[in-house]
Amino acid sequence: MTPESPASSTPDNLARKRVGVLISGRGSNMVALQEAASAPNCPYELVVVVSNRPQAPGLAYAKTQGIATLALDHTLFRSREEFDDQIHRVMSASKVDIIACAGFMRLMTEGLIERWHNRMINIHPALLPLFKGLDTHTRALKSGVKISGCTVHAVRPKMDEGPILGQAAVAVLPDDTPERLAARVLKAEHKLYPEVLRLFASDQIKIAGDRVINAYQGCETADEAIYSPQPTNR
Ligand code: GRF
Repeated sequence: MTPESPASSTPDNLARKRVGVLISGRGSNMVALQEAASAPNCPYELVVVVSNRPQAPGLAYAKTQGIATLALDHTLFRSREEFDDQIHRVMSASKVDIIACAGFMRLMTEGLIERWHNRMINIHPALLPLFKGLDTHTRALKSGVKISGCTVHAVRPKMDEGPILGQAAVAVLPDDTPERLAARVLKAEHKLYPEVLRLFASDQIKIAGDRVINAYQGCETADEAIYSPQPTNR
């Protein structure tokens, strides 16, 4: 299976890291990655978007951007291994440097994850290592945490584990519902993911074994805590 309408490579984007994105649905994080990729000097480009669900709205968007797309319906494969082999083949054939999982709702085999060791990243809508897995926002609210957020991490065989490359914190408000919290966290995801990918693609974030080495300059809000509740007399 080959992706539809491969993007053309110009001399300008030859130096950029080639990113393959795995999605299952809406694809709003993929959109954020693509929007950032269109900025001058962005060190990465999206070269292929693969969805395990043929009807994923994200695929249609990727096509409008001239990105190669492929629907790989997992229900048509005899085993998880065969499905993952196909993902590996597509990513390799597209000369992908980094796989970015963006709402990809399939557990992957250790074989695939190991082949892309430290070259596959994921975004999770919680401050890992808290609230791994599904229904993160419901569980975050139930737990009573006052701060939640999102995490970009390198993928390891255990779900939602792996070296943490970046995080954004979001206050949990007293009247939050899972939907409201999810919407605020998603806004942060759309800023965090492109930034982490930019730094990772330009080697300003590196992974050595399981250790993350950051070469970027600070954080503008380093002197400011995120409060919930917000102190009145600051
Ligand atoms: C995001 O919240 C992401 O963190 C999680 O799944 C959701 C995907 O949303 N893994 P989208 O498809 O990127 O809009």
